[in-house]
Amino acid sequence: MLTGKLVRLRALEPSDAEALYRWNSDPEVLQWMVNAYPESLAQLTKRLGEDRPANTYDKLILCVETLADRTPIGAIALTGAEPENARAELDVYIGEAAYRNGGYGTDAIRVLCRYGFDQMRLHGISLWVVPENEPARHVYKKLGFVEDGRERERFRRDGKWYDLIIMSLLEGELVED
Ligand SMILES: CC(C)(COP(=O)(O)OP(=O)(O)OC[C@H]1O[C@@H](n2cnc3c(N)ncnc32)[C@H](O)[C@@H]1OP(=O)(O)O)[C@@H](O)C(=O)NCCC(=O)NCCS
Repeated sequence: MLTGKLVRLRALEPSDAEALYRWNSDPEVLQWMVNAYPESLAQLTKRLGEDRPANTYDKLILCVETLADRTPIGAIALTGAEPENARAELDVYIGEAAYRNGGYGTDAIRVLCRYGFDQMRLHGISLWVVPENEPARHVYKKLGFVEDGRERERFRRDGKWYDLIIMSLLEGELVED
């Protein structure tokens, strides 16, 4: 169910801590992340430890791994879902730089959106992206996400303000390949 053509999505394991730590220190990943306060490897290891809460309807965070050899390459999440609105927010990154631009991100998003609509019975999936993040915008549009609007100067990074584009995908709009 959580398998695509290139990736499989699975729950995070304690053994993912080192890879996550490395990805979260990559400037290309950090650049557009909201919560960019550094987290130590020790904190991350604890967070992923055996007390980690299970994935739920309103907080689903998964590791993206390659189907070919099960290499962990990134993370993807659907959060904030509420039964009343059946809407969740999507976050994604391919942390392993060598795997960026190889179709993995597109596949991972497609798999999770399919899961969101078919299994979780979501009506819509939203996300935000800065206009400058052209590869991400390209991927989202290719999958059927539509721009709903823009919040001006909503996001600050390295002393500069950026607009945020809000995008959404409704049930039945996911572009399959
Ligand atoms: C955005 C991200 C998730 C996409 O995943 P990915 O595996 O690299 O993407 P894919 O290989 O599936 O697709 C990349 C697409 O962008 C296109 N692309 C690459 N550079 C581009 C650019 N500068 N402008 C427009 N399109 C571009 C590629 O041609 C490809 O499209 P195609 O398949 O139609 O040819 C990934 O690059 C990433 O994690 N980036 C850093 C973190 C981030 O930006 N996260 C999203 C925050 S909103």
